[in-house]
Amino acid sequence: MGREVLVTGGSGGIGFAIAQAFADSGDAVTITGRDHDRLQAAGERIGSRVAVVDAGDPEDIASLPGLFPDGIDVIVNNAGGFVGSAATATSSVLDHQRHWLATLKTNLLGAVLTVISLEEKLRRGGSVVSIGSIGAEYAANAYSTAKAGLAAWNAGVSERLGARDITANIVSPGFIDGTDLFGGRMSDDRRARLVDRTHVKRAGRPADVAALVTFLASEQARHITGQTLHLNGGAHTTR
Ligand SMILES: NC(=O)c1ccc[n+]([C@@H]2O[C@H](COP(=O)([O-])OP(=O)(O)OC[C@H]3O[C@@H](n4cnc5c(N)ncnc54)[C@H](OP(=O)(O)O)[C@@H]3O)[C@@H](O)[C@H]2O)c1
Repeated sequence: MGREVLVTGGSGGIGFAIAQAFADSGDAVTITGRDHDRLQAAGERIGSRVAVVDAGDPEDIASLPGLFPDGIDVIVNNAGGFVGSAATATSSVLDHQRHWLATLKTNLLGAVLTVISLEEKLRRGGSVVSIGSIGAEYAANAYSTAKAGLAAWNAGVSERLGARDITANIVSPGFIDGTDLFGGRMSDDRRARLVDRTHVKRAGRPADVAALVTFLASEQARHITGQTLHLNGGAHTTR
């Protein structure tokens, strides 16, 4: 019997690739998302259980422990993205506040509450992996600031859970192709600029992220915790 794995936002993009990689290894995977039909279709493709849970809704998150009566081994906090349209220079302070709160709620608080709700159920030898973003290195908007907060929070989670032999890390991707993150807002010019910033001159793929996430949750990675691991083809270097 494989491990119990939760991948939030697992019905598409990076989360689907992560869920598929765990399922291919024989783990029992549960994926969450907001759109039931999309979730159902994704679950059928990889043989995973599905649960409609909005990462921006604390009441939905409070239902998670009921899904894992016997415990959980791996939590992947992947759900996230741009929430609504960013307030502009002419927007009111209240518009800015609405945008920031909604963005922080989904991209930061969603992961925090997911871990809080399942912390007691995490088994020894388990792992928490949260998906950050290269944007956190240049945080100048609500999304990037939420991702920077996620990395800071992760360091404390690692310390708290480490005593129970549970690791906690951030995987921080650069531009990953083949996702819906940018909706229709990724022009050919912008894509070319993002690829040009990499040393390897290609965009990342969801499978690149899945490979690192599954490694961090593996037996081979038990001494890696409290870290932010960058996956961006060299677009941002740590030295
Ligand atoms: N793509 C990139 O270049 C890139 C780069 C850096 C970081 N990331 C991060 O990677 C993660 C995955 O993004 P992606 O690129 O794979 O985006 P995506 O293609 O838009 O997929 C997002 C997935 O998460 C679900 N989702 C979105 N909001 C949710 C919410 N509030 N609650 C629950 N599920 C939600 C979506 O399903 P529903 O819409 O049905 O809920 C979908 O399954 C995000 O945290 C993103 O910030 C992406």
